[in-house]
Amino acid sequence: MRSKASFRGHPIHPALIPFPFAFLYGAFLFDLAGRVAERPSWWTTGAYLGLVGIVAALIAAVPGFIDYFNTVPPKSSGKKRATKHMLVNLGAVFLFAVAWAIRGNAEVVPDSTVLVLEGIGIVLVTAGGWMGGVLVNRNQIGVDHRYARAGKWNELRIRPQTGQPTVVARSDELQVDQMKLIHIDGQRIVLARTEGGYVAFEDRCTHRGGSLAGGVMIGGVVQCPWHGSQFECRTGGVKAGPAETPVRTYPVSEESGQVKLRLPTG
Ligand code: FES
Repeated sequence: MRSKASFRGHPIHPALIPFPFAFLYGAFLFDLAGRVAERPSWWTTGAYLGLVGIVAALIAAVPGFIDYFNTVPPKSSGKKRATKHMLVNLGAVFLFAVAWAIRGNAEVVPDSTVLVLEGIGIVLVTAGGWMGGVLVNRNQIGVDHRYARAGKWNELRIRPQTGQPTVVARSDELQVDQMKLIHIDGQRIVLARTEGGYVAFEDRCTHRGGSLAGGVMIGGVVQCPWHGSQFECRTGGVKAGPAETPVRTYPVSEESGQVKLRLPTG
């Protein structure tokens, strides 16, 4: 699903990641080569690359945090993977920071402890990068998935109106088989238009938690982007697995050109 930290539709986090990756790898390799070849200018370069790499990693982490909290579907296998990705990369940055602190000065030769810490940091940053790739390629985090007639990505954050249905769209806002993701009262709900009118259902595939708003809707049936489960949008019933449990649906009404959503009380 589309990234919340993007510029002109392009996710920012993956665009920044090559910088800390290159700097931290460079830091380790220059330190190691400088130590082996006894070349002070090489390990001094390594020290500064490490410092720049730490700063670049922290900058790249900011859009990553935004996507972690706002884009990755909650209670999903993708969220677990994203949590590991975050912890592993933060661990790598921490190790490089400790290595820098131990060293204290860029001109000081990196001792074995510094090299070991940086080496472990490189292993972690490589594993974290691998997980990040899986998050994009398999979990489609940051992918602006558009199928025929889907229209632009449509998302709304709204507070529920107490004791009454909440207005979530204009009647003419969506075409048939288009969807809109609504964040309301801590829940993610998909509003969709079918041939028979508007419907609403939970934005969580019952298989492993994929975002249905990031899927494809055709003929009133939505298909999960992760493993292809299909659900009938009006009833939430499973049309095709691997999911076995229906998705939750919510009552929707149309009145005076407005679409209203009613959240269950209690
Ligand atoms: S998460 Fe597996 S089909 Fe939706």
